[in-house]
Amino acid sequence: MADILLVYGTDTNNTESIAQELQTRFEQLGLGVELTNITDLEPETLLAHSYCVFGIPTWDFGGIQADWEAFEPVLRSLDFSQHQIAIFGLGDQFGYGDFFIDAVGWLHEILAEQGGNFYGYWPTKGYDFNASRALLPDGEHFMGLAIDEDQQFELTEQRLAAWVELLKTSMLAPLLEKVNA
Ligand SMILES: Cc1cc2nc3c(=O)[nH]c(=O)nc-3n(C[C@H](O)[C@H](O)[C@H](O)COP(=O)(O)O)c2cc1C
Repeated sequence: MADILLVYGTDTNNTESIAQELQTRFEQLGLGVELTNITDLEPETLLAHSYCVFGIPTWDFGGIQADWEAFEPVLRSLDFSQHQIAIFGLGDQFGYGDFFIDAVGWLHEILAEQGGNFYGYWPTKGYDFNASRALLPDGEHFMGLAIDEDQQFELTEQRLAAWVELLKTSMLAPLLEKVNA
């Protein structure tokens, strides 16, 4: 059983590439990662992993990536109260500034209703957008990491590094304690 289940959905492979980079970074910490496209995900696999990182892009003016949307009934049928969850979202803040990473908000909403415990909330500083369903009530954080390969690809590496650092001191701390024991 891997330490972390890393699941992504994608239409044009950007989210897959970011998921692969995260996998490498987690593995460099000594953690085992199971990486899977949501099209291949079995509900049993999801239930068996307490530490989950989910990647989702937003499409078509606030729309949900099709494979994640198809998986919604499964998500709504499961209890996530024992799950530690971090979400990352891909979007385009200039092209779709009224819907920036909206799908992260959709996923967070469902998983919160199913009892999930969340980590990796991410500051909005450095992004330029009008509205997002993924905003926390404080208006200053997203419900997960925002990656913009269309407009700010040059910031992706540093954002991934900083997000992994944040997860190291929060969600992943119990796992890392065991690895380093
Ligand atoms: C037709 C189209 C619609 C899009 N709609 C949104 C949107 O509503 N919100 C957003 O943040 N990004 C939007 N995007 C940007 C994509 O989310 C972005 O390109 C992302 O990196 C795609 O990820 P993927 O390659 O994993 O599918 C859209 C892109 C296209 C081409």
